[in-house]
Amino acid sequence: MKRIGVFTSGGDAPGMNACIRAVVRGACYHGIEVFGIRRGYSGMIAGDVYKMESHSVSNIVQRGGTILKSARSKEFMTPEGRKKAYDNLQALGIEGLIAIGGNGTFTGAMIFGNEYGIPTVGAPGTIDNDLYGTDYTIGFDTAVNTALDAIDRIRDTASSHDRIFFIEVMGRDSGYIAIQSGIAGGAELVMVPEVLTPISQVVETLKQGWSRSKSSSIIIVAEGDEEGSAQEVADKIKVQVDENADIRVTTLGHTQRGGTPSAYDRILASRLGLGALEGLIAGQKNVMAGIINNELVYTPFEDTIRLPKPINEDLLRMVKILSV
Ligand code: F6P
Repeated sequence: MKRIGVFTSGGDAPGMNACIRAVVRGACYHGIEVFGIRRGYSGMIAGDVYKMESHSVSNIVQRGGTILKSARSKEFMTPEGRKKAYDNLQALGIEGLIAIGGNGTFTGAMIFGNEYGIPTVGAPGTIDNDLYGTDYTIGFDTAVNTALDAIDRIRDTASSHDRIFFIEVMGRDSGYIAIQSGIAGGAELVMVPEVLTPISQVVETLKQGWSRSKSSSIIIVAEGDEEGSAQEVADKIKVQVDENADIRVTTLGHTQRGGTPSAYDRILASRLGLGALEGLIAGQKNVMAGIINNELVYTPFEDTIRLPKPINEDLLRMVKILSV
């Protein structure tokens, strides 16, 4: 393989730059030409591509976001869009791809690979940590620490004012950020999409806390929770508990997607970027590089997309026990 392309796609995640750096520097080391594709599949369709050298990735290991930019392309979901992308790659002589992203990214890569046979290896980049085939995804650790920093600050003011705070963290279909930041932040309850926490249980937890003279409480709500957004949960609670209860809601939103990647994410991203590249060179295709029990593994895109990555429900039990 003489020439490859690299791109980031879907929601950005801290550490994506460290991953791009590993791919580009690894390619230079192995004597392979590498092209950066801007804005994911949108750039592939538009031919927004440039040749990258070792110096193209200088001073980015510590930067959040992605220097290649990211997008969610509707056009790539159409056969016409994918044909344009293929023609552009053909014209450039690109023989293989490294895709850094999440579920949507790998779904696109799998369809494209089946249609046109261009080998693609993925590196899991998403703050949600919702990909089967790796213990952790790039950006998750940083996002948890960003959420935790906010939770710690909110706890100070919650405690000063004897308030109940509902804090919404990201995770469209996944409770990983909620669980980890909730445990580390000493939350009274964590609500996640994977396990229904009925409103009655939230009320019960608050009442039990009051009976033990707890004057403030922090409840973490994952974005995709079945009972609704943090605001909706708070509204439902308000009518069921003491009407004098002082309730506030904070949605952390996209703050969790930005910022300097943690050391853990930079190292993970470097390992996964190089692992994806060396897998591609060795003939891997339509797979995602992941790290399970500290070992580099390759999992077919089909499985990363189709198979659920279950949360550890015992951690939710622990939240309950530790908040008595
Ligand atoms: O997949 C990562 C993620 O941050 C989710 O947690 C969140 O639901 C979604 O992306 C938000 O996407 P957007 O930036 O397009 O609003």
